[in-house]
Amino acid sequence: MSDKATLEYKGDKYEFPVIEGSENELAINIKTLRGASGMITIDPGYKNTGSCESAITFLDGEKGILSYRGYSIEELAEKADFLEVAYLLIFGELPNKEQLDKFHQDIKSESHVDEEMKKILDGFPKSAHPMGVLSSLTSALVAFNPESVDISSEKEMYDAIVTLLAKFPVLVAWAMRKKKGLPLDYGDDSLGYVENIHKMMFKKPNQEYKKNKIVIDALDKLLILHADHEQNCSTSTVRIVGSSHAGLFASISAGISALWGPLHGGANQAVLEMLEAIEADGGDTKKYMAKAKDKSDPFRLMGFGHRVYKNFDPRAKIIKVAADEVLNDLGIDDPILEIAKGLEQEALNDEYFVKRKLYPNVDFYSGIIYRALGIPTEMFTVMFALGRLPGWIAQWREMRLKNEPIGRPRQVYVGENLRPFVAVEKR
Ligand code: SDX
Repeated sequence: MSDKATLEYKGDKYEFPVIEGSENELAINIKTLRGASGMITIDPGYKNTGSCESAITFLDGEKGILSYRGYSIEELAEKADFLEVAYLLIFGELPNKEQLDKFHQDIKSESHVDEEMKKILDGFPKSAHPMGVLSSLTSALVAFNPESVDISSEKEMYDAIVTLLAKFPVLVAWAMRKKKGLPLDYGDDSLGYVENIHKMMFKKPNQEYKKNKIVIDALDKLLILHADHEQNCSTSTVRIVGSSHAGLFASISAGISALWGPLHGGANQAVLEMLEAIEADGGDTKKYMAKAKDKSDPFRLMGFGHRVYKNFDPRAKIIKVAADEVLNDLGIDDPILEIAKGLEQEALNDEYFVKRKLYPNVDFYSGIIYRALGIPTEMFTVMFALGRLPGWIAQWREMRLKNEPIGRPRQVYVGENLRPFVAVEKR
């Protein structure tokens, strides 16, 4: 017998089942509310509204906990690699060696992109933001892989997933190489998944590609840390677009556009731009702290605050340590890192931030590592999308396998009441 919640309104009582998740979260299931009472709920930004029951990722914002399919982000970041985390998120279990090898082999067999796609890329000016390029190219992939749209079996679903995991990194690399004026090229299927991505992105013509284990390990860890984050803005976008059965590639293309926003994944680029502005301003962090607290100033301290975490974002903690390690290992002394640490200390001791429980989030330190790895600032959010791809795919797959209904929220109308049309002569 499940618990019940009762709503009372104007003498009428309405009962709703309360569901409890595997981590003891409670939710009132209101799917009978409108039928029983004629009323709906309203919750701008869905701050108190769950969209689904999911078995993929668990967050505890108060305690700063993050886990993928029950494995802590700390353990996965330390012990796993990105491809096996992708498999875990999508299929629910860590793969054994045979499963992982087959998964990688299936991806390699699809790791080419139709040459016609280069003509679409050519159409973009070099000044185009790579997130817009990536979203467009991902959507264009449908034209060259039409069988990926109408999924009617798990085999077809698997093939679409593997195709996207194979081709997306090529598009990421091509988007960056286009901006740098480098020839579009492929990597080397004899390499690991992440190493191959790095080679596709950075290999210079007429030069031998030299692997740098520090760089590859740092990239692998960053991609793991970005791989999923339950029902954030871009994942909710992927789910709602996918709920219309628009197909995986179209759903992911929509998710890329949602992630682009500076309040979401675009924050990692905005953080670096903010830190560079502070550095150019002589390191005057106090001026930017004041701007962030000034309600008349639209400026926000980018990389700070989170809808769910009201404690440290566990990813930020790991990335902060990794930033020190990577810069030391690469012999890079980046003053931006010291500015970031100074800003963090100031904010953590400032009443405005403490009262609102605003802590560094995943985007605060990640750009410092990307910069050390030679990734251009405009590509930072693309790297976020590359990491988040398996999470988006996992969430889309879960929604489709559960045959969830098309997403279509209600509203409260606050416009004009019915009124007669007036001819233009009489207006
Ligand atoms: C990501 O959802 C996810 O899981 C996202 C993500 C993922 O992995 O998918 O974790 C990735 O998007 C991380 C967040 C990256 N964005 C930023 O760093 C941009 C800066 N941060 C904010 O704009 C803000 O904190 C949000 C958007 C992240 C969260 O906004 P909320 O939950 O809607 O909170 P809010 O805007 O209602 O803020 C509450 C208060 C307000 O002040 P009051 O009206 O109470 O006086 O806190 C203030 C806000 O003005 N505030 C900030 C602030 N963030 C919130 N003030 C200054 N600087 C900030 N960064």
